[in-house]
Amino acid sequence: MDRILIRGGRTLKGSIAIGGAKNAALPLMATGLLTDGRVTLTNAPALADVVTMLNLLGQHGLRVEHDKAAREIHLDGGANNFEASYDLVRKMRASILVLGPLLARYRQARVSLPGGCAIGTRPVDLHLKGLEAMGAKIDLEAGYIDASAPNGLVGAKILFPQVSVGATENLLMAATLARGTTMLINAAREPEIGDLANCLISMGAKIEGVGSDRLTIEGVDSLHGTTHSILPDRIEAGTFACAAAITGGEVLLEGTRLEIFGAVIANLREAGVAMVQEEGGVRASRLNGLHGVDAVTEPFPGFATDMQAQFMALMSVAEGASMITETIFENRFMHVPELSRMGARINAHGTSAIVRGVPRLSGAPVMATDLRASVSLIIAGLAAQGETVVNRVYHLDRGYEQVELKLAGVGADIERLRG
Ligand code: EPZ
Repeated sequence: MDRILIRGGRTLKGSIAIGGAKNAALPLMATGLLTDGRVTLTNAPALADVVTMLNLLGQHGLRVEHDKAAREIHLDGGANNFEASYDLVRKMRASILVLGPLLARYRQARVSLPGGCAIGTRPVDLHLKGLEAMGAKIDLEAGYIDASAPNGLVGAKILFPQVSVGATENLLMAATLARGTTMLINAAREPEIGDLANCLISMGAKIEGVGSDRLTIEGVDSLHGTTHSILPDRIEAGTFACAAAITGGEVLLEGTRLEIFGAVIANLREAGVAMVQEEGGVRASRLNGLHGVDAVTEPFPGFATDMQAQFMALMSVAEGASMITETIFENRFMHVPELSRMGARINAHGTSAIVRGVPRLSGAPVMATDLRASVSLIIAGLAAQGETVVNRVYHLDRGYEQVELKLAGVGADIERLRG
């Protein structure tokens, strides 16, 4: 298994190309199941999760092409197999996003239940209840979701009891081909959902309320192909902002705009990180001290849960204390014991963690446990005294493209140890 070695102490300076968003690319790829037409996605990131989704769509019978050099994904043709097997779904929970499209277009689907993951149990009850409200028959047996809608899906009014990105995406896609009108109330508002809605509209879908928490979808008979550029990854960009800030450096996050970051901008600025919109992107810099700032994760436009671990690493060397509260997932503090091994002073209790800033962290061998925890350890390693080795970086490769090359490109002393 690959490891990443960081020798801390360098100041990051320069410009980083930000890739297409993982959490936009995955649902956008699922739209390929909604039409026999050709769906081309540009600005496509080369990530392990994208490859997993391509394999899954290929298993469903779509013609898939991943032109890494051109950063394009092409999906064509129709599905002839409506099962998403456990061996693929367990590798990537977002596989559940084929359920809505398969039901809407082929009126049947057999998708493995994703099961939990390191950060929480992550049920899919909201996905299933919404599809049942649209007329689907759902049976659970042997760890699979057996879904059918022999007469096709019918539009429904669906109120989410809690905000769910995936359930909003699954039901939004399903509703585009349902008979009649669907209303999604208390829908998630993450920018990736707006990107998905805009792509569906370019395929002929009728959607109103894009960007709001109330989406109204008028079903149509069919959708055609499209070419859509995937929006930049706000979490990758926020991650590099934290990396620049913890080293006292300055990095241009190419191609990004302030508004896609939501409340993360306010927390970073309050902590002493300048975030300025320029022609070529957002410039993140920290020229003076870092201050401890509280953060509470919330659905967009609140502070993103996917930025919590990275922000905690930053706060571990800030002046003063920071109270970080995780409200979205029940077990998303697994980076805490690893940061503590590097000298961070963090006391996690339930869904909150108190971080008391220390002057310096010290490098150590640490263990990645999930995607965002792994990158928080790299951020800490950049500012630590001595060497940090992050083990199990396969977690990292799921959501970050060549992170060590991008960081080395702005001055970090970092390398991947193969094997
Ligand atoms: C998406 O996961 C993202 N993944 C996650 O990013 C992100 O952390 C999360 O949204 C929240 O922003 C992708 O987009 C591929 P949810 P998703 O449904 O859709 C509960 C990363 O690091 N819930 O918004 O699974 C759930 O347990 C990943 O890139 C139900 O109870 O998240 C959680 O507590 C990690 N029932 C909360 O809602 C359901 O049916 C939010 O989950 C669905 C969700």
